[in-house]
Amino acid sequence: MFENFKSEIAKQISALSGVAAETVEPAIGLPSDTVHGDLALTVPRLRMGGNPVKAAQSLAEQFQPTEAVIGAVATGPYVNFRINRATLARSVLGAVHATGSKYGWTNDGAGKRVIVEFSSPNIAKTFHVGHLRSTIIGNFIYNLHKAHGWDAVAMNYLGDWGKQYGLLAVGFERHGSEEELAADAISHLFDVYVKINADAEQDPAVHDEARAYFKRMEDGDEAALALWQRFRTMSIQKYKAIYARLGIHFDVYSGESQVGEGVTRAMSMLQEAGLLQEDDLGGKYVDLSAHRLDKAVVQKTDGATLYITRDLGAAIQRHELYNFDKAIYVVATQQDYYLKQLFKTLELLGLPYADRLQHINYGMVEGMSTRKGTVVFLEDLLNESQSKMHEVMRANQDKYQDVTDPEHIADVIGMSAIIIQDMSAKRIKDYDFNWDRMLSTEGDTGPYLQYAHARLCSLERKVHVKVNPGADVSLLTEDVAHRVITLISRYPDVLATAINTLEPCSIVQYLFKLSHAISSAWDSLKVLDQPEDVAEARLLMYWSARAVLSNALTLLGLEPVERM
Ligand code: ARG
Repeated sequence: MFENFKSEIAKQISALSGVAAETVEPAIGLPSDTVHGDLALTVPRLRMGGNPVKAAQSLAEQFQPTEAVIGAVATGPYVNFRINRATLARSVLGAVHATGSKYGWTNDGAGKRVIVEFSSPNIAKTFHVGHLRSTIIGNFIYNLHKAHGWDAVAMNYLGDWGKQYGLLAVGFERHGSEEELAADAISHLFDVYVKINADAEQDPAVHDEARAYFKRMEDGDEAALALWQRFRTMSIQKYKAIYARLGIHFDVYSGESQVGEGVTRAMSMLQEAGLLQEDDLGGKYVDLSAHRLDKAVVQKTDGATLYITRDLGAAIQRHELYNFDKAIYVVATQQDYYLKQLFKTLELLGLPYADRLQHINYGMVEGMSTRKGTVVFLEDLLNESQSKMHEVMRANQDKYQDVTDPEHIADVIGMSAIIIQDMSAKRIKDYDFNWDRMLSTEGDTGPYLQYAHARLCSLERKVHVKVNPGADVSLLTEDVAHRVITLISRYPDVLATAINTLEPCSIVQYLFKLSHAISSAWDSLKVLDQPEDVAEARLLMYWSARAVLSNALTLLGLEPVERM
């Protein structure tokens, strides 16, 4: 958005300084604060020799104002430029109006495919907060790639294979109930799993039974597989409902069980590459100690494969099936070492796509619990957040009466609270789960962002003018308006940065800034009871700000609400 202004400045500075315009242009940036100017030139970067403070002064003095760049002042080694706010407003608000919900999107990923593997819970075990983080961060990464024109595949790689599913089957024979399974597969299977683990503690023979059962599964015994298949299908059904509530969709439900012959292939590739070594007991491993990654065991003494063996096979199959340009694994930082081993092994196999794999990690959440105690199920967490938010909404009866579907709105805002809290800091940071803080409509929270959006929607409903892209935006001269417009102009840069860092917090922090700027404009720049031209110009600005809020919230995986 600022490109035109920058190149105009660069041209003139180049003529004045003798430094090539191509060198000048990248030295012009957006200042963090617009008090001194709208664009700043860092003079030392021109390498003119001599005293940069003096050079800045002389450049500022000689600069001839133009229609678009209206003035220059030196501050230390910088030259700050004032731009024509009306020109900026026209181009920014025009761009938002023209592109709407796609403002800031690019086609940079056109023709490229990315697999984003995320969520990936383990059937019959808890869907813990680590999985929740993978779910929401992964969904954001998926959305972000789509916004940049990538062909993105959302993949859920379920933990659905291994001896514990033999154990689960044995448990189901003892403690299972068809009715409960049909009612809520996830929580019933979890109960069964807890019970059979308790049994096994009393009686270790249960483990032998489980091993035998799993052996039948691995051998392809139909009866054994049928039960497991039902557990899998019904769990996926239930997961789908929860994901739908979160507004998340997966293109593929893959999983450890689906790797099948990929495992055999991975093993023979390792063999051929001379990477397989055998320990004293007959277990097989890949020695990664030369890469400071220790040994990676890929086959147990009894011939059983492991998590990493399945992941090796899965990577090979994914590449065959999807021919990806990039494959992202959204997995907790606890598995940093493991994923290094996985990626290194694929690299040692000489696979050309080994360097297209990327681990996106994230830290832990402390202290997350519901009223009932430690969280076991994601659903309980969502329900609790919804009901707490519902209470808050009910406290304001006037507004509450206007909300058409309060249950749903409470749910959306409750989820916003959880998700924004999660995405407020860099992924790698651990954080404390805090109900009071995240549900507050004041301070930097999800409900606050939703409120900012809803308030703009209500403005649009109430005012006497309509959004008009031809409004006279030269009337938007105030600092507060300029601040809002400048922030809107930066949104495309924010999206461009985010696709490199894959940090949701960069978007969240931006949204807080934008919402604060809107708030500061709110009291002084009224739309109601204003002359028509002023009202139209301001409405176009507020409407654009709302479009960006909505666009960014959606990208983060949230449904922007119109009333709350
Ligand atoms: N199911 C695993 C867990 O819960 C996460 C899977 C991560 N993805 C992978 N390709 N290993 O720990």
